[in-house]
Amino acid sequence: MKSSCEGDRLSCPTGQLNLSPPVSRRLVLASGLALAACGREPALGQPIAEPPLKSLANFPIGTCVRAPELADPAYADLAARHFSQLTAEWEMKMEYVVQPDGSFRFDRADAIAAFARQHGMRLFGHALLWYANEPEGFLKLDETRQSFEGAVRNYVTAMVSRYRGLAAGWDVVNEPVMENGEGLRESLWSRKLGQTGQFKVAFEAAKAADPAAVLFINDYHLESRPPKLRTYMRLIEQLLKAGVPLGGIGCQTHSWSELPAGSITATLKALAGFGLPIHLSEMDVSTVQGGLLANRTEAERRQARLYAEAIEAFAALPERQQFAFTVWGMRDKDSWLKRENALDTPLLFDDLGRPKPAFAAVTNALRRS
Ligand code: G3I
Repeated sequence: MKSSCEGDRLSCPTGQLNLSPPVSRRLVLASGLALAACGREPALGQPIAEPPLKSLANFPIGTCVRAPELADPAYADLAARHFSQLTAEWEMKMEYVVQPDGSFRFDRADAIAAFARQHGMRLFGHALLWYANEPEGFLKLDETRQSFEGAVRNYVTAMVSRYRGLAAGWDVVNEPVMENGEGLRESLWSRKLGQTGQFKVAFEAAKAADPAAVLFINDYHLESRPPKLRTYMRLIEQLLKAGVPLGGIGCQTHSWSELPAGSITATLKALAGFGLPIHLSEMDVSTVQGGLLANRTEAERRQARLYAEAIEAFAALPERQQFAFTVWGMRDKDSWLKRENALDTPLLFDDLGRPKPAFAAVTNALRRS
């Protein structure tokens, strides 16, 4: 790990970070093409598109995006038309940002931020510390030159300060609870900083870098695994008691069509009990997990019902706790779940970007709320 400070890198004492790395010409062109396409009017004779989701909601409606896809006019159009907040699906995570030599690359995060700024959208930062990202830059850190804690503080400071004023909030620690809910996950971060220390270091550095940003923890399967929800809520209590600047609670809501009705509602109510802003942060509804693959119509009916339930439950929260409702992708073909099963149709728009029954269920639920 180099100890010099020519640019953004883990070993740079905070404040000497060079926050203006070269952005690739290709990406600038791609972003420009994406932006130019957004002004495109629907061709004569084309059906009038559905009302924008964000025009029906009293709270921010978000989606995750990937930078290269923003050069696709259809993708850019859909994002700009329906959503008021963007989350980078993976390009603001360490796995993309932190290079093996400890330097940082922000090109794609900057492109997503530029698109959000261009369209008056909020950005949501995802995710600073995550058990699933243990990049070489940290694993090979020369701790005789830079403490591990110092490198984490530098990284969090570089990320959060770069998008200060645009990022409304951050997932500071992502998915801290074990799959079975029996405790907190072990990770590079917990091993090096301590279970509580990882939260303290990351949240304090993020707070210092952007005092206005809402700082979240975020986890999944809280609706279907009671032990996981209990451990998550115990962790929240502990962090608040310890004075960690936790400002919001993320509930990812990755679901499937057979999730029992009422599970999402009960989970949001339980989490809302802390009085903090809630981010329903990554909703999708698989139509193939479980056993309904054979009955596509029934799976899509239940999918629509679950999306409607989630909107109604979120809209029933006190307004000050409605941080954002985010779906994890726009068109079925964009979904990460397609990698698990190509037959899955988890999102609100089909592969061609046409609204599905789930979209109609969401718009009806928004109108009722
Ligand atoms: O686009 C590149 C491609 O050019 C390259 O050839 C390939 C080689 O690995 O990588 C491709 O990027 C992949 C990226 O998804 C875009 O498809 C990354 O490797 C892959 O790691 C990344 O996976 C993402 C995953 O998080 C890990 O970051 C998924 O898209 C994303 O949907 C998923 O999202 C997570 C949330 O962050 C946390 N909650 C669960 C959720 C689903 O797992």
